Amino acid sequence: MRRVLVTGGCGFIGSNFVRMLLAEEPAAHVVNLDLLTYAGNPRNLEDLEDSARYRFVHGDVRDEVLAEELVRDADWIVNFAAETHVDRSTPAKAGEFIETNVYGPYVLLDALRRTQNAARFLQVGTDEVYGSISPPARPREDAFLNPSSPYSASKAGGDLQALGFHRMLGMDVIVSRSTNNYGPYQYPEKLLPLFITNALQDEPLPLYDGGTQIRDWLWVDDHCQALLLLLREGQAGEIYNVGANQEPEITNGELTRILLRLLGKPESLIHPVDGLRPGHDQRYAVDTSKVRALGWAPSVELEEGMERTVAWYQARRDWWEPIKSGEYRDYYRRHYRFEAKG
Ligand code: TYD
Repeated sequence: MRRVLVTGGCGFIGSNFVRMLLAEEPAAHVVNLDLLTYAGNPRNLEDLEDSARYRFVHGDVRDEVLAEELVRDADWIVNFAAETHVDRSTPAKAGEFIETNVYGPYVLLDALRRTQNAARFLQVGTDEVYGSISPPARPREDAFLNPSSPYSASKAGGDLQALGFHRMLGMDVIVSRSTNNYGPYQYPEKLLPLFITNALQDEPLPLYDGGTQIRDWLWVDDHCQALLLLLREGQAGEIYNVGANQEPEITNGELTRILLRLLGKPESLIHPVDGLRPGHDQRYAVDTSKVRALGWAPSVELEEGMERTVAWYQARRDWWEPIKSGEYRDYYRRHYRFEAKG
């Protein structure tokens, strides 16, 4: 039996990972610790509720007593629990990001130290820690950290906490840094699910700052496969970039137009807006040769992945329509200064 503690397993990447892990590792038993803050949704894993190999624990990664109890029995710990949205990480809210993204991994790691469990700890990170990258550079894992927002600064802090525990205590820690993920169950505040669901409701698509920015879009299951590989074969104390390395690179504007074509919706839905993301990073890119040397490669091309994503959101209005009310609606009105259809 392989006992896996996943934190933040009710979020987007976490829930896709839990489902994949249980399918691919027949000996795996998963405990999912999730606080169910706004983007954590128990419905993301409702298909596993009756599984004898899955247990949900409602709680906080910053709870030292609970963390100690849960890490004690784990063979692998995968930390997805994070505040993730750049637009929410205003200076006034930075404390919440630091609490979850820096203090959270610290509590888990220190619980591991106290229990003297030699479990492998995978800190799931982001390429945003490298900041905006001028073309054609692609930073390797040892590149300078240059975060542009409280979000990415806090993620960099979490990575460094994890690596510090490895260096001081020899703990079995790995850090991954992936590019932008997309696919089913992504909370509709991020670019692709926001634009797909808005378009399905014939609502404007708020395209920031001319739409010239570049992201490296990674199909979520390809990311999860890389994480599984790192858990099995990664080297302790190492950082691994994970990304699709799209060729040619694609701007947000081009991505939006592909989306509208797939949805059969007019480009007149595009609503250019400026100034909603101070310090907006122009381009993210990473060198992924290290994870590829372990045998990983992405398997889903961008257009194929976008077709699948669009089909999922078309089929799962029951999932996203309830989300686009309540807290989401308030956030949307505050941030974009226009109404979201409930
Ligand atoms: P996002 O999905 O928030 O991910 P990240 O900031 O982590 O890359 O944004 C992706 C890109 O899309 C980024 O360049 C900002 C842009 N964007 C918009 O143009 N409009 C939007 O409403 C959002 C949320 C993002």
